[in-house]
This record gives sequence, C-alpha cells and structure tokens, in this order.
Amino acid sequence: MHTCRGMRSGSRRPLLIVAVVLMSVVVPCLTARYSIAQEGEAQDAGPSSYDQLAPVLLGKETFKTMLTRDKAEKPAVMARQQKLLEERYDLTLRPDPELKMSRGKPVQVGPAVKLPEGLTWKSLSEMSSEHIRDKNLFPKGFLPLPHPKHAAGGMLFPQMEIKQLPRLARFDLDFDLPEAFLPEFPPAIYLTTRPDLGDVSQGKAVTVDNFQEIFRGILNSKDLEGLRLLVTQFPQQQFNATADRKTELPVAMQGVACFDCHVNGHTSAATHLAGDIRPQSHRRRIDTPSLRGVNIQRLFGSQRALKTIEDFTEFEQRAAYFDGDPVSAAAKGVNPLERGSQVHFMSEFQELLNFPPAPGLSWDGKLDPKKFAPESPEMQGQALFFGKARCAECHPGPYYTDNSMHDLMVDRFYKTQTINGLVATQQGPIKTFTLRGIKESPPYLHDGRLLTLEDTVEFFNLILEVKLSSPEKQALVAFLRQL
Ligand code: HEC
Ligand code: HEC
Repeated sequence: MHTCRGMRSGSRRPLLIVAVVLMSVVVPCLTARYSIAQEGEAQDAGPSSYDQLAPVLLGKETFKTMLTRDKAEKPAVMARQQKLLEERYDLTLRPDPELKMSRGKPVQVGPAVKLPEGLTWKSLSEMSSEHIRDKNLFPKGFLPLPHPKHAAGGMLFPQMEIKQLPRLARFDLDFDLPEAFLPEFPPAIYLTTRPDLGDVSQGKAVTVDNFQEIFRGILNSKDLEGLRLLVTQFPQQQFNATADRKTELPVAMQGVACFDCHVNGHTSAATHLAGDIRPQSHRRRIDTPSLRGVNIQRLFGSQRALKTIEDFTEFEQRAAYFDGDPVSAAAKGVNPLERGSQVHFMSEFQELLNFPPAPGLSWDGKLDPKKFAPESPEMQGQALFFGKARCAECHPGPYYTDNSMHDLMVDRFYKTQTINGLVATQQGPIKTFTLRGIKESPPYLHDGRLLTLEDTVEFFNLILEVKLSSPEKQALVAFLRQL
C-alpha cells in the first residue's frame, strides 16, 4: 500500500525504480492511479506519463475492442492527414532525369512546399519575421509536421518496407508521405573499412535471415555479432506480444530491429515521436536519421544530445522503444543490452557505416576544381555556401556538420498553434545534421517536414534572412547535390 500512496504523491523518480522491479505490485497500483486521474486529480499538472499507459495494458479494455475501434477510426485519421499534406505540399512528382541516389532511385525536384496565396518566394523573403508571423504568412509546410495520429504516436513504417516485411504493419495507421519523397529501399551500404568494395548490400535489405551470407568474409566475428543484434527484433511499445500491441498477428517473435528503421544502416524514413517530451501534444515527430557517418559525429539524437554512439544504442532500446516510459518497458518485455559484449559490438558495426561516395569532392571535402569550371552552378553554389548564404557557419567541411546544436528560432515566423493534435511552438536547439550524402535522405529536418533539397534552400533562405536570388538558390542546390 505504501507504493500506491507514493504513486499519488509528486515524487516519481524513486517510484520508477520500484515500478520496474515490482511490476506485479505496481500494475494494480497504476490501475488505481489511473482511475484517480480520470476523476480529475491530476488536472492541475496535466496528465502524467502514466496516464498514457493504454487501457488495454491496465485491463480496462480488451485487445479486440481496441482493434475494432482503431480500425474503424483509421480511414478518418488517414484522410485528415492527407488533407493536411495537400494543404502544405504540392505532391506532384518531378523526378530529376539525371540525379539518382546510389542504387538508382530518382531524386525529386522541389520546392514541394506551397506558398500562401498571392506570394512568391522573393516577396516572402523580403518581409520581416514579425510581419510573416502576425499575418500568418509562413508557408504551412515549414511548420512542424505532426505524426499521422499524434495522440497515439508510435513507430510507423513506410508501405514500401511493409511490402517486404509485413510484420511491420499497424492496424490503426498507414505511413503518410509518398514513397517518391523517401530514401531508396533498400539503400546501399558503404563500409569505412572496405571502400574498395563500393556498395556491399547486394541490393538486399539486411535482415537476420541474410546478414551472414552478405557480410561473411568482410567483417570480423565481433562486428558480425554486432550486426546480428542490429537486425534482431526486440519488443517495443506497438510491436510486442501483449494485448496492447498495434499489430494484428500475435507472432511469437514480435518486435522491431534497429535496422527496421535504420535500414542497411541508412534510413527507411520510418517515424515516431520523441520520447522525452510531455505532454503528448508537445512531443515531436522524428524522422529516422541515417547512421552513415556516425563515426565522425559527436552528438546523437536531434535533441537528446547523447554523447556516444554506445549510449544511444543502449538507450534507444530501453527508452525510445517504449516512449521513455520504464513501466511500459517492463510490462512489454524490454531487452536491456549488456554494455561490454552487446552495446559495444553494435556500436562498432555502426561506426563502420560510411557516407556514400561523392566523386565531385576532393580530399578537403570541397569541389574538385579539375572537375568543375569556376562559372559552373556547383562552384558558385559552393562559394555561396561558404559565403553569402552562411551555411558553412554551422555546416563546415569536410563533413558539413559542426557537431553541435543550434536554435534556428523558426518560431519567430509563426504563432503557437495546434496542428492535428501537435502543438507547434518553440523548437529549441536541434542537432546540426551532416549534409554529406544529403540527396539520399529525404525528407529533411528532424521531423521530415521538408520533402526536397529545393525546399531546404527556400527554408534556410527565409530563416537565416540571407536574401538569395533565384539563380543563387539554384546554384546552392547544385552544390548540395554534389555532397
Ligand atoms: C522507429 C524507428 C527506429 C528504430 C527501431 C531505431 N531507431 Fe535509432 N533513431 C530513430 C530516430 C527517429 C532517431 C532520431 C532521434 C531523435 O531525433 O532524437 C534515431 C536516432 C538514432 C541514433 C542517433 C543518430 C543521429 O544522427 O543523431 C543512433 C546512433 C541510433 N538511432 C541507433 C539505433 C539503434 C542502435 C537502434 C536499435 C537498438 C535503433 N536506433 C532503433 C529511429 C529508430
Ligand atoms: C545556425 C546554424 C545553421 C545554419 C547557418 C545553417 N544550418 Fe542547416 N541545419 C542546422 C540545424 C540545427 C539543422 C537541423 C534542423 C532541424 O532538424 O530542425 C539543419 C538542417 C539542415 C538540413 C537538413 C538535414 C537533414 O538531414 O534533414 C539541410 C539540407 C541544411 N541544414 C542545409 C543548410 C543550408 C543549405 C544552409 C545555408 C543556406 C544551412 N543549412 C545553414 C543548422 C544550420
């Protein structure tokens, strides 16, 4: 009973530890707390993390009831998200005839973001941020992007991936962004240790069924074991064996693998919500970043800023997999990784993932002057990137990241507003993602709100107030395509 009373008081930290260890005692207590919160006790502070524990897990609802309700709601949820995308973007496909990702998927040409009625990119960039905010003129596609069902959140995988791995389908939701604006699937794999081999993926998505045949003879057994763990499924909030899952089949080996999102060490653009933020409406949608080039990076996570790849590997599974909620984690079967023999092996493999080759760049990470004439758009774009456009102040070569975080203060262009359940407000400091290989990892920004490189240039031109002309913006894109 002490534990139950503790639950109602404000101090949650020691409770978390007790909760994880003594699930059998705590679950009934949680049930009690849940009904108390329902009666309005927690109203002053807003709902706590525990209130998100699904009714199914608390025994308030059956799997079947939830399944029927979620399925019935799905068409309306998806239609609402589709409408939002159409308001924000022109989703017409404009594949570049020349520019392809490593394995041949065409890169889409933008900008896809729609302008407010009657404005041009030029007229918009001549207005002050206050004017844009006060008159609601910030393009909708530049605002934070919500998860298709923000109140539920959770891991969501693109259709192209589910086609190959049907276990990743959810019954309540489909992925929202069109496949043409996503990375290629499966993507190429480049190893820092064997650049001579080029792409070692053999055109396959690496899974627990094929990793040995793909990597035998290229990796040592420790890295191979690290890779095995990266492609092994472990239970997670929506994909697990409890009645609270969002997958229809009660498969014995429910769960997700690291490489379900970071496919082939790159990304499938799978999404979920950041674990650290509360309440739910403030949690950001996060787009899976590529793991290519993590060897030269020093901060991990768009906001968490964990300092080592080992820490991120360890805590991705313990925390992010379960919405940052240790109680759910315990109930759904968290798999704590052992630091010395598992976390390190997994991390060491990740550190081998290289950026894709950039044949236009020389040893200093800049364009090779023998390959580009001084008046070429690429060379002019490079001069802008390191000069007038100010990009290099945060994205210096040769890896095009300063390994730091910056608050771009995007919120000076918009009023706080709620978009399909997401409160779009100040974003705070975000990791400066590297721009090496950038054409291969759309969509862009931490939440994937920008669909093409042209959109990113329009976005930064406005945010940084650098007032580039139309030919200058084209030149900048030409340079980004070389990275
Ligand atoms: C739902 C898909 C998903 C799964 C599964 C997943 N990740 Fe991630 N990963 C993400 C997202 C999204 C981020 C960005 C997090 C953020 O912005 O804070 C991320 C970030 C990372 C980062 C930091 C990258 C950077 O550029 O800062 C590393 C390293 C990482 N994940 C490794 C792993 C490992 C190891 C596993 C398995 C234990 C794993 N991930 C499983 C989606 C996933
Ligand atoms: C003040 C520092 C700063 C400057 C200057 C800056 N960036 Fe960035 N850049 C960032 C940060 C921080 C992010 C991540 C923002 C986010 O995810 O919300 C980012 C993200 C990006 C991305 C998307 C990366 C990805 O993986 O999604 C692109 C592309 C980009 N920047 C291009 C540029 C260009 C082009 C310029 C110059 C016109 C520029 N940046 C100037 C800090 C900066």
